[in-house]
Amino acid sequence: MNYKEEYTASTTSPERFWLEKARDIEWFKAPETALSGSANGYQTWFEGGQLNTSYLALDHHVNAGRGDKAALIYDSPVTNTTRTYSYSELLQEVATFAGALQDLGVAKGERVIIYMPMIPQATIAMLACARLGAIHSVVFGGFAANELAVRIDDATPSFIVTASCGIEGTKLLPYKPLVDSAIELASHKPNGCVVLQRPQLHAELDSTFDYDWHALIKTCSPVPAVKVDATDPLYILYTSGTTGKPKGVVRDNGGHAVALYYSMGALYGIDENDVFWAASDVGWVVGHSYIVYGPLIKGATSVMYEGKPVGTPDAGAFWSMVERHKINILFGAPTAFRAIRKEDPEGEFIKQYDLSSLRTIFMAGERLDPPTYYWTLEKTNKPVVDHWWQTETGWPICSNPMGIEPMQTKPGSSSVPTPGFNVKVLNGIDSESTPGQKGSIAIQLPLPPGCLSTIWQDHSRLVNGYLREFEGYYSTGDNGYIDEDGYVFIMGRTDDVINVAGHRLSTGEMEEVLAAHPAIAECSVIGVNDALKGQLPVGLVLLKDGVDINEADLEKELVASVRSSIGPVACFKRAIVVKRLPKTRSGKILRKLLRQIAVDEPVSVPSTIDDPSSVAEIATLMRDKGLVEAAEV
Ligand code: COA
Ligand code: AMP
Repeated sequence: MNYKEEYTASTTSPERFWLEKARDIEWFKAPETALSGSANGYQTWFEGGQLNTSYLALDHHVNAGRGDKAALIYDSPVTNTTRTYSYSELLQEVATFAGALQDLGVAKGERVIIYMPMIPQATIAMLACARLGAIHSVVFGGFAANELAVRIDDATPSFIVTASCGIEGTKLLPYKPLVDSAIELASHKPNGCVVLQRPQLHAELDSTFDYDWHALIKTCSPVPAVKVDATDPLYILYTSGTTGKPKGVVRDNGGHAVALYYSMGALYGIDENDVFWAASDVGWVVGHSYIVYGPLIKGATSVMYEGKPVGTPDAGAFWSMVERHKINILFGAPTAFRAIRKEDPEGEFIKQYDLSSLRTIFMAGERLDPPTYYWTLEKTNKPVVDHWWQTETGWPICSNPMGIEPMQTKPGSSSVPTPGFNVKVLNGIDSESTPGQKGSIAIQLPLPPGCLSTIWQDHSRLVNGYLREFEGYYSTGDNGYIDEDGYVFIMGRTDDVINVAGHRLSTGEMEEVLAAHPAIAECSVIGVNDALKGQLPVGLVLLKDGVDINEADLEKELVASVRSSIGPVACFKRAIVVKRLPKTRSGKILRKLLRQIAVDEPVSVPSTIDDPSSVAEIATLMRDKGLVEAAEV
């Protein structure tokens, strides 16, 4: 089938399409129906089917005689280590660690939080949970104790799995004290904590609460994979929303496995002999789908990299990885390629390595800006594919479907809707935009398999946050347009989410931290354009009457608060004092207007504004501080 036929089949008859795709994976009990409706007009996939995702990713390949094949390559320039795990070895490690968790009492349906750096044990812990039917929730290492505590309280895990330290470039970051303080801050108390001691730093363990990973696996036996229902949760992954409280996106087992298997072939053009490298982190959705589950379910070789695009040791790191491991597909965030380009504009490093194995470079996490697209294309001479997706969808909504029919690229566009995603641009209540007309991007229900099944503990958050805005559609929170050839252009968010170095962050959450400072009456956090990281947060703060504080001191205090409450990953470095914030007459801060100033877009001042001069005042201030370029109002 060509793309058009495949896409049409997926949207006109989703049940038939996905039931057929479901036959490509091994089930303990194959589903008889693909799609069943649920309350709230939201879908459930493969009800009645039974499987195990860890079995699919490991046992299935070993049973098929591919046990000696490389499953996972761990490459860590920061510790000078490389290790390859065959499918048999990875299965042995996963089944044994699952045995250890089972001995600790972890059972099906219980939650386990994994807070680990980019080491193979993070993958092993995820697959071990899946093996037991326990629900993992991986928390990214760049989040502070408070963020971890929020997730502990929401997921109520029975155990936490961590490591003694992470290594970020040249920095050694002790993880255990951070986990301890998160548990201290949280109301929910887990039963214990499993700690992987790394040779670079030993953590102090509390013998009544902590368990040493290596000691545990010495005394336990490997366990088989348990049967779970297709609709049982595999994991919870927290992501930023408009409010301060992160959303626990829940992924099921059945739909997820079918969608990821399909995407590996259809979108990435991968088969089981290929080496796939997603240069992301297991703490993000890209890491879940394309470091761990996708490549392993497909039976390919996945690469796990504990390093940075630059500085570990240099801007040639990505190309050296490609040569060393004969990588066929490379997937990274545009910000990583911007960092490489900044240090090696002429691509001198690229010339030093053999990139002949590399077929395609995929990018996601933020819009691939045309200069980065052209630079990567010209310097590597490889096809470069921008593809658009979200934590919620778990796999790409739009992409150039390289495994079905490679299509012409349009720089600035993430190409065409992926089979299964009925993408529309809506410019009002259910009214579709004409080609080229900008609007809110929505996906007509049902969403394909693999997308979120609910928000943990709060299904109404899914309904209210995604399904209410347009009846019969899922609102993506992104805006943009579709051109006359059906290519989708994503222009930015419609809400208070910003994207910093490919990391999704909530400005609302940062505002809560700033507002807690005793000197601050009101505040707003906006994302300004940044040449390297895409966006950077800036706090606009209004002081309480009578407060006398040095602006530089205040900025330092606010930067420290955001770092300690949210984490270094927020990259919050700037706060400026303003005299007024633009508001409506009813006192609501006009955030959309501030967002427009921040990204140098034409500002539309609404008639409901209380004091129109406040807009020009903010724009001028931001321009004077070098935060925006034009800001003409
Ligand atoms: N654990 C602890 N701290 C972390 C961390 C982790 N896993 N990841 C990042 N941090 C810290 C960094 O050390 C840095 O701290 P600092 O303020 O003390 O310097 C801070 O968080 C900001 O990190 P980052 O935004 O990554 O900036 P950087 O300057 O270290 O690196 C890039 C810049 C562009 C090289 C890097 O952001 C990058 O590789 N981005 C790609 C992101 C990605 O893969 N996203 C996934 C979507 S596909
Ligand atoms: P996350 O949930 O962290 O994957 O972030 C999802 C958000 O990142 C999307 O809603 C978009 O705003 C943005 N995003 C991700 N990929 C792209 C892309 N290829 N083009 C434009 N925006 C993107």
